[in-house]
Amino acid sequence: MTTTRILVTGGAGFIGSHYVRTLLGPGGPGDVSVTVLDKLTYAGNPANLETVRGHAAFRFMKGDIRDSGLVTDLVAEHDQIVHFAAESHVDRSIRGAAEFVLTNVLGTQTLLDAALRRPEGSVRFLHVSTDEVYGSLTEGSWPETDPLRPNSPYAASKASSDLLALSYHRTFGLDVRVTRCSNNYGHHHFPEKVIPLFVTNLLDGRRVPLYGDGLNVRDWLHIDDHVQGLELVRTGGRAGEVYNIGGGTELSNKELTQLLLDLAGASWDSVEYVPDRLGHDLRYSVDCTKISTELGYRPRKDFTVGLAETFAWYRDNRAWWQPLKERAAL
Ligand SMILES: NC(=O)c1ccc[n+]([C@@H]2O[C@H](COP(=O)([O-])OP(=O)(O)OC[C@H]3O[C@@H](n4cnc5c(N)ncnc54)[C@H](O)[C@@H]3O)[C@@H](O)[C@H]2O)c1
Repeated sequence: MTTTRILVTGGAGFIGSHYVRTLLGPGGPGDVSVTVLDKLTYAGNPANLETVRGHAAFRFMKGDIRDSGLVTDLVAEHDQIVHFAAESHVDRSIRGAAEFVLTNVLGTQTLLDAALRRPEGSVRFLHVSTDEVYGSLTEGSWPETDPLRPNSPYAASKASSDLLALSYHRTFGLDVRVTRCSNNYGHHHFPEKVIPLFVTNLLDGRRVPLYGDGLNVRDWLHIDDHVQGLELVRTGGRAGEVYNIGGGTELSNKELTQLLLDLAGASWDSVEYVPDRLGHDLRYSVDCTKISTELGYRPRKDFTVGLAETFAWYRDNRAWWQPLKERAAL
């Protein structure tokens, strides 16, 4: 059996660590080895990789995707790159966009150039993008062919890296595959994001801050389903193609809040309406026909079950999130 050597950038973060735990876990493909390259920013957490640390096929490298020398050496030793590393929080990009451009745009370009320089020839490059690159829509869903109209600095930096990755396919023939997923949820999610923030606030008897009128709509994708989609694209997708990955559960923030209040046994007294996020996109919705018909993708996790499991995980893992909230003053 030949082993595929995968370099996972940002593998200590929320989705990247779940991807690595799944790949090296009991149901994983078994024919892969994984190196995580992660800078361990505020969002990167070594504890997320605790269960795979002793795995013979796992290696961790602390470093920056913008470090061209390091990245060139690492890429030379791998067959595939799955690129998660990014600054990922929209609110932070509104407070300051520089780090988003440096990591998301320059970092991706550094990786792409290293992929071109690989002495053994071609490497497969799976770029993890986001539905936020499409902008905002009131009805219908975006197919992959829709133009990109990102609104936040975060989304603009992700759109830039997404287009850069595709340009390396068109220009240099690099095997680039791009996925654009909707809002992920699940365990090990940094507690600044809406679901873990609301859950942990409610567990502490604190109020939850609901933006504006709460009518913004998001499609929720469980991390298991996201990993399923990523693996289908990594192993069976086509070079130069974009694949949307959605969860099939659209909810307004108000509806989401109601479900979380129900799980916590709390009422709307626990909700504090706060001024809306600047430029807050109204609705995201991806059309998943392509990945479904071409690769057989189907989201499997029922949202109410997934949300209850997520709530229970935070209830049972205070030691994971409490220090993070204290450090980030959340
Ligand atoms: N969370 C979501 O709902 C969502 C939705 C769509 C797309 N995405 C995309 O998925 C990817 C992963 O998202 P996430 O939620 O796991 O993010 P995250 O913020 O939890 O993790 C990001 C990881 O990247 C690392 N990192 C940041 N800058 C780095 C650098 N310069 N060099 C090396 N490592 C660096 C961090 O330390 C962290 O471990 C991102 O590209 C994000 O844009 C996320």
